[in-house]
Amino acid sequence: MIYVDNNATTPMAVEVAQAMNQAYESAFFNPASQHQAGQKAHRRLDDARETILNNLGAETTRFASDRLVFTSGGTEANNLAVFGLGKQTAGQVIVSAIEHPSILEAADQLTSRGVKVRVLPVDDRGVVVFSELEAWLAEPTRLVSVMLGNNETGVLQPIPEISALCRQRKVPLHVDAVQGIGKIPVNFRDLGASAMTLTPHKFHGPRGVGALLLDDNVTLNPSMFGGSQQLAMRPGTESVELAIGFERSLQLAIETLPEAGPRMQALRDRLETLLLDLVGANEMVIIGQDSPRLPHTSNVAFPGIDRQALVMALDMAGVACSTGSACASGSSEPSPTLIAMGLAEDVISGSIRLSLSRFTTEPEVDEVASRISNCVKRLRRR
Ligand SMILES: Cc1ncc(COP(=O)(O)O)c(C=O)c1O
Repeated sequence: MIYVDNNATTPMAVEVAQAMNQAYESAFFNPASQHQAGQKAHRRLDDARETILNNLGAETTRFASDRLVFTSGGTEANNLAVFGLGKQTAGQVIVSAIEHPSILEAADQLTSRGVKVRVLPVDDRGVVVFSELEAWLAEPTRLVSVMLGNNETGVLQPIPEISALCRQRKVPLHVDAVQGIGKIPVNFRDLGASAMTLTPHKFHGPRGVGALLLDDNVTLNPSMFGGSQQLAMRPGTESVELAIGFERSLQLAIETLPEAGPRMQALRDRLETLLLDLVGANEMVIIGQDSPRLPHTSNVAFPGIDRQALVMALDMAGVACSTGSACASGSSEPSPTLIAMGLAEDVISGSIRLSLSRFTTEPEVDEVASRISNCVKRLRRR
């Protein structure tokens, strides 16, 4: 099987599994325990947290100390941001139309609690309409949430401009950077956001852990109660093993990025060029092609083909890919991201997502292109 569904999750790097196995054997203690072994585990947890913060360009000096709140993954970190940031002020919440469901559905909950939520549109290139945000921020706003790079199209959002505007208006900005880490350089302080979500299972680390990174100035209201761990912002016994896996996978992602980033992009471009050649430029659309994109994501549509049928045919042919975000796939709902871009119905209904990783090889890409072309031709003949 050739795996091109890395935006859903990634295989764990061997070095990460080794570091975690070692920790499972030697550091199983509860970091809140008072005995020496517990205190040692606590120090190891703090070390992992600090390494992660340093690798993300966060401030950890005594003048400014950004914080990392471990969660169970990206979904929980996004929920924590929506419910916990900006609660101190009144006003609207603004989220972009192409956010992950863990932002959009959390924002729906806020609506049902009487908060005004506005959904920022995107243009046909998949980029948020900045002028609209500028106009909307004239009103009191408690939070803006815009992602770094979209999980379905890979399209990058203009976060530096958005964060400059939000800072000027003194509105906290949350950035879901889940798909960006390990794919493009990400520096939290340069990004200028108040909070950022990430999870290592998207960069060859463990599933079941994620984090919300918080700027020094930000206050976070907890969503869970019953413990003093993580400054009571997210109580519950922390897993030192998962934190170590997180730390190791982030180190590797950042070390390998200068070589892996351009290589993923070259492979993604090769895949798209091969498809255009094999299937025919008139028979397919590369979604978001004219926008800056994450280097590893390609969303290609074959108008007239049913995306579910194509993904199933590819599965039978030994290619694992998806019709969109993993949460939405399995259902036949069309992608809200592609709808928000205003794409034609046959483009939306014929689109699949191919996502590579730093472990994807050129022969795999060539084989994927050939198998997609064969499946598309077979389905068209039907
Ligand atoms: C952009 C984005 N945000 C959040 C999430 C949710 O992360 P998790 O699966 O760790 O809950 C995903 C997962 O696909 C994602 O792509």
